[in-house]
Amino acid sequence: MQVERLEEPAGKAVPETAQRAVPRHVAVIMDGNGRWAAARRLPRLAGHRAGAQAVRRCIQAAIQNKVGWLTLYAFSSENWRRPAEEVTDLTGLLRHYLRHELAELHREGVRLRVIGERERFDRDMCREFERAERITAGNTRLNLMVALSYGGRSDILRATVAIAEAVRDGRLDPAQLDEQQFGRFLYTDGIPDPDLMVRTSGEFRLSNFLLWQAAYAELVFLDVLWPDFGPTHFAEALDTYARRERRFGARPG
Ligand code: FPP
Repeated sequence: MQVERLEEPAGKAVPETAQRAVPRHVAVIMDGNGRWAAARRLPRLAGHRAGAQAVRRCIQAAIQNKVGWLTLYAFSSENWRRPAEEVTDLTGLLRHYLRHELAELHREGVRLRVIGERERFDRDMCREFERAERITAGNTRLNLMVALSYGGRSDILRATVAIAEAVRDGRLDPAQLDEQQFGRFLYTDGIPDPDLMVRTSGEFRLSNFLLWQAAYAELVFLDVLWPDFGPTHFAEALDTYARRERRFGARPG
C-alpha cells in the first residue's frame, strides 16, 4: 500500500518510561478492514472479523499501557448507508462480540459504554447494550467506549436541541452556558476529552468522529490496516504522543 509518510519532528527523544506522558484517553478510528480483505480476495466480512480480533489486541494494549479511557469507532452514522448485507454482517458481528466477549471484558476489569444513536439498532441489540453496561458498571481498570451509529455533527446537533428545550422550559439560563456545561449534553458526558486520536490505514481524516471532544487531541495516523493492528502499533502511537508538545493554544513556555 502506498501512503504518504509523515515524519515526526526530530530531536525530542521519548522520555524515560517513568516520566513519559501517557494519554489518559485514546480514541481510535479503526479503518482498513475492507482493503485488508480485498488484498486477500476475501469477502469484506472476513476483514471485519479480523478487525474484531484487532479490537481485542487494542484493548489489551490499552490495559497494559495503563490508558484509562479508550474509545473505538465501530459503526458511524454514515455506515448505515453501506449495502444492506454489510450492515447486517457488521451488526451481527457486534452482537456476537457483545454476547461472547462480555465475560472476558468483565474479568479484565473493563467498563463498557455505548455512545451514539443506540436507538437505531433493534430492540434485542439495545438490550445487549444495556446488559453489557449494567454488568460492567462497577469496573475501573479500563473505560471502554464503543461508538455505534455515532456521528460528531449529530452529537453536537442533538446536544443543541436538548439545550434549546431546557432554555425554553426555564431549566437552563443561556447566560450560564459554558463549554463544560455544553459537554454535559453530549454522548460523552462524564468522559474526559481524548488526548490522542489514532487512525489506521493511511487515511488522514476525522470522518465525523468526536468533533467537539477532539478539539485539542493529538492526531496520529498509522500506516497499518486495522486487522493488522497490534501492540507495537499501539506503542508507536504512544511514543509519537510522548514526543509531542501539547500547548492547548497557549504560547510555548
Ligand atoms: C472500517 O473499515 C471499519 C468499520 C466500518 C467497522 C469497524 C468494525 C470492526 C473493527 C469490527 C467489529 C468491532 C467491534 C467493536 C467488535 P472499512 O470497512 O471502512 O475498510 P476500508 O476503508 O478498507 O473499506
